[in-house]
Amino acid sequence: VRKLIAGNWKMNGLKAALAEAAKMAEMVGDGNGADVLICPPFTLIGALAEELDGSAIRVGGQDCHVVESGAHTGDISAHMIADMGGNYCIVGHSERRADHGEDDALVKQKAEAVLRAGLTPIICVGETREEREAGKAGDVVSAQLAGSLPDSGQYVVAYEPVWAIGTGLVPTLEDIAEIHTLVRSKVGSKTRILYGGSVKPSNAEEILTVANVDGALVGGASLKADDFYGIYSAI
Ligand code: PGA
Repeated sequence: VRKLIAGNWKMNGLKAALAEAAKMAEMVGDGNGADVLICPPFTLIGALAEELDGSAIRVGGQDCHVVESGAHTGDISAHMIADMGGNYCIVGHSERRADHGEDDALVKQKAEAVLRAGLTPIICVGETREEREAGKAGDVVSAQLAGSLPDSGQYVVAYEPVWAIGTGLVPTLEDIAEIHTLVRSKVGSKTRILYGGSVKPSNAEEILTVANVDGALVGGASLKADDFYGIYSAI
């Protein structure tokens, strides 16, 4: 499968960040190496889709509501993201699971809403430090997959150990391989499985060559064109 390098800007980015994205598009060029995606805050989706129109970089959301429209103040639907020119939407990121109490059942409903809008969901799973230290990483990820994956449709899975996000800590390549092999056994050969958690230019090459790693979900290092391109060019 063709690799996917996805940037998750989280709650970062004012209008000035559009210029950084334009620089990324210039560096990525025709995107021969891999698919490239940026998921900016909702406020920038429309402008970024316009800015990147005709480039190799796609645009996505970081979350969505489970229904298409209605009385849900402050929420955004997957249809709205599609309408703004988005192609993907992240669901079940550990920050949403922690900050907003999102559970597997809700994440599954969100993934299905993304599919109904004609977009590709990126479904995040991953264990906490306590769960890894207790030897439960595989069980936790298996349970999250069982509860969060839609029953059908094309989706992407992102394995993001919670303790590796934004910390500079990364699992050993053996540990990444073990979980990715486990995920592969549940999702089949056509589903892309991304690794996420402290990916940067200096570790991207070794991570991206681990078996069953089909790309990366990148937080901090996706905010600067030089870093993001450094990860893309590690492929
Ligand atoms: P990080 O975030 O690359 O800053 O660790 C990854 C993520 O949360 O998707």
